[in-house]
Amino acid sequence: MNVHDSEKVIGTLIGQGYSQVDTPEAAELVFYNTCSIRDKAEQKVFNRLQQFKKDHKGKTFAVLGCVAQQEGDKIFEKAPHVSLVCGSASYNKLPDLLIQLETGNKRVTGLSLDTEETFDTPMTRRDNPHRAYITIIEGCDKSCAYCVVPFTRGPERSRTSASVIAEARQLAAAGYTEIQLLGQNVNSYHDPSPAGWDFAAMLDNVGKVPGIRRVRFTTSHPRDFVKGIIDAIDSNPSLCNHVHLPVQSGSTRVLDAMQRLYTRDQYMQRIAWMKQASRPIAITTDIIVGFPGETEEDFEATLGLIEEVEYDSLFSFKYSRRPNTPALALGDQIPEEEKGRRLTILQERQRAIQVRRNATYVGMVEECLVEGFNKATGQWIGRTSQNKTLNFLRPGSDEDLLGKYVEVRVTRAGPNSLAGECVN
Ligand code: 5AD
Ligand code: SF4
Repeated sequence: MNVHDSEKVIGTLIGQGYSQVDTPEAAELVFYNTCSIRDKAEQKVFNRLQQFKKDHKGKTFAVLGCVAQQEGDKIFEKAPHVSLVCGSASYNKLPDLLIQLETGNKRVTGLSLDTEETFDTPMTRRDNPHRAYITIIEGCDKSCAYCVVPFTRGPERSRTSASVIAEARQLAAAGYTEIQLLGQNVNSYHDPSPAGWDFAAMLDNVGKVPGIRRVRFTTSHPRDFVKGIIDAIDSNPSLCNHVHLPVQSGSTRVLDAMQRLYTRDQYMQRIAWMKQASRPIAITTDIIVGFPGETEEDFEATLGLIEEVEYDSLFSFKYSRRPNTPALALGDQIPEEEKGRRLTILQERQRAIQVRRNATYVGMVEECLVEGFNKATGQWIGRTSQNKTLNFLRPGSDEDLLGKYVEVRVTRAGPNSLAGECVN
């Protein structure tokens, strides 16, 4: 989401007559987009800003994103060389804020969260030539007890289906074949226009745009994840067979404390829908260890859940206390060391699951979108519909495969990637 926000901001700046340069050294105006999902990410922002100050005297600095929203005016105190602070819900005001800067204003802010609009830009400067992101919904109306996002990105706003489809058509015309639909919770997408599409309808229709061969989406919330989404994936081959469904914990007691609005059984029901689909759907997740009050038994429940689901991969995090969040008030904080211990155990277990699962692909032929070339190994880097990296050789050919779709036979499997040989 942040990567795509940066792309939209760059497009907006170019639309205002600015031009992009390759290095911060060459820039007069330096924008820094930030994340505050965990404390570590936030600390990085201030370290980097100090570094910038030393290295780039005389430049104008702007701080965007969640740290900007969260810290607001305080950023000017902590980093007095910053001139513009703007949260993501106010990005549509950026052209105005830039004019204020140009007319000599030294401190400008865009911190309002009450915007009804989404940040649609006439021009977006995209970095990847094959895969394009499209935001369908911004903000979040949930209130997970650990999460800062509702405070930094504001309430949910969905884009109209017509504007999303128009953007998808434009992208297809520009040669993009893969689209990734974005939102904090894409499943709660609700078309504000009379067409009234839900998320499953949006997914299916983006998958039907001529020229689009792959559609992905992130992120889902189990509470709003309905069976219609799986039915759409099952019946429309352009929709990639991969679902990222963050579970956070395998213990219903912890899920309740996290205010996640589902039980372990309800989550497993969604997993069952995926496993019953006629196409094999890869499943990935996010897990937080060491949420306040998490007992050894709760943690064991999470370990049991990952074995039961057999995730294709997962992102795991130590719980981090965030400003304003309801979990700040909870007692029984888990010591850092213990969080670290649980994280290591979880990651080791998951590694074994991936070794086991990936081995089952050996011998299979998978369609790959070619995303890169590794000069050191002479291998092309492909991605399967299930979002697995498949590195492969194509002996006897020096054709440029970048951006093409090829069939690859898997010959080897590791915990994090597959290797193979092109068969066409
Ligand atoms: N501490 C640790 N992890 C967090 N996440 C969100 N907030 C926190 C927090 N306070 C994780 C969740 C989420 C992912 C994007 O980041 O697992 O799904
Ligand atoms: Fe945060 Fe929960 Fe919203 Fe996801 S659904 S952004 S975890 S509050």
